[in-house]
Amino acid sequence: MDVNADLSVEYRHRFPIFEHTTYINSCSAGALADTVKKSYDTYLSTMELEGSAWGSWIERQEIVRVLLAQLFKVTPAEIAVTTSATAGVNAIISALDFTKGRNKIVTTEHEFPTIGQIMHAQEGRGAKVFHVAADSENIFDIDSFARAIDDETALVSLTQVCFRNGSLTDLEPIIEIAHRHGALVLIDVYQGVGSIPFDLSVSKADFVVGGALKYLLGAPGAGFLFARQSTTANLLPSVTGWFAARDIFEMNIHSYDPALDARRFEAGTPSVPSLYPTAAGLEIVLEIGVERIRQYVSGLHEALREGIIAMGGRVVTPKSWHGAMLAVASNDEFAHVAALEGERVITSNRDGCVRISPHFYNNMDDIEKTLAALHKHSNLLA
Ligand SMILES: Cc1ncc(COP(=O)(O)O)c(C=O)c1O
Repeated sequence: MDVNADLSVEYRHRFPIFEHTTYINSCSAGALADTVKKSYDTYLSTMELEGSAWGSWIERQEIVRVLLAQLFKVTPAEIAVTTSATAGVNAIISALDFTKGRNKIVTTEHEFPTIGQIMHAQEGRGAKVFHVAADSENIFDIDSFARAIDDETALVSLTQVCFRNGSLTDLEPIIEIAHRHGALVLIDVYQGVGSIPFDLSVSKADFVVGGALKYLLGAPGAGFLFARQSTTANLLPSVTGWFAARDIFEMNIHSYDPALDARRFEAGTPSVPSLYPTAAGLEIVLEIGVERIRQYVSGLHEALREGIIAMGGRVVTPKSWHGAMLAVASNDEFAHVAALEGERVITSNRDGCVRISPHFYNNMDDIEKTLAALHKHSNLLA
């Protein structure tokens, strides 16, 4: 296997959008692959052929669970298939009691709104929320976590890659500090999963949440949650439902009898139409391997960075700690994204920046077209 191979040569033809568009926005949504598109038909055919195809649908949920377990190098019993990252976080947080000594949640300034909002919603349940800030380069000083985390900390909630600036968090030293104080650690990997290897047989994270829509090439409506059996088995979510029951089809209405494994963090009927494309997307990512994706995309990311700096742009994504996405400062982020779209270069914006996020299907031609479009509208660079 040539680890330096141009992955786009092998895979790009399977993504029809590249016939007419420079799509470089996987931090928002992955491009549609041929097999992912076809999988929607597979779902519809279950309805045409079987009507209420519960057997096939549940089987597809289990396929997704197994593929996710492969991706993270854990057992399927430690994976819950959810309908969003948000649903996973809500199930986890509902299992924590903030009134019995540990009432502190330590999180960061790099979180996605759903994390910040859910954590602050726990203030009504007795929690106190502390945010750790990054430095002016968008990198965290590990000592600031050492100062924030103490023996009253119940949960440390970290994002792997910041959705605003692309900064990558050095997770393991923070996880170690949290564990030294007896706190659990939740990682939101949504902006990293599928583009940054995350081996949960090595990492010590207790919980991981994310979704399928971005670098995993799947669909909205499908998310996942990892719950480490050795550290979280005693936690029982109160945000729950029949698909979290030990025996789903027992139809028990007189007691709460959740599954013993991570499935207890699931809730109602799975988002079945989303499971088909999610399985198809995961199959592509696993076939290539996330290590190869990371290596290949890093080259595109660096070329983008050099080109932007050469034209006088300011990249806010740290050079040493970053995901696939690169954020460039803009003086009008909405006009900027619209101007690039006018050149048929699709990006997105957040927090005063244009986000440019290559994946394995992008190539150097895309980088050159993106740089040319940025150069043409360089009056919008901040
Ligand atoms: C880092 C991160 N976390 C969480 C979310 C929210 O995911 P969901 O809508 O599946 O809850 C997103 C969505 O873009 C995200 O980028």
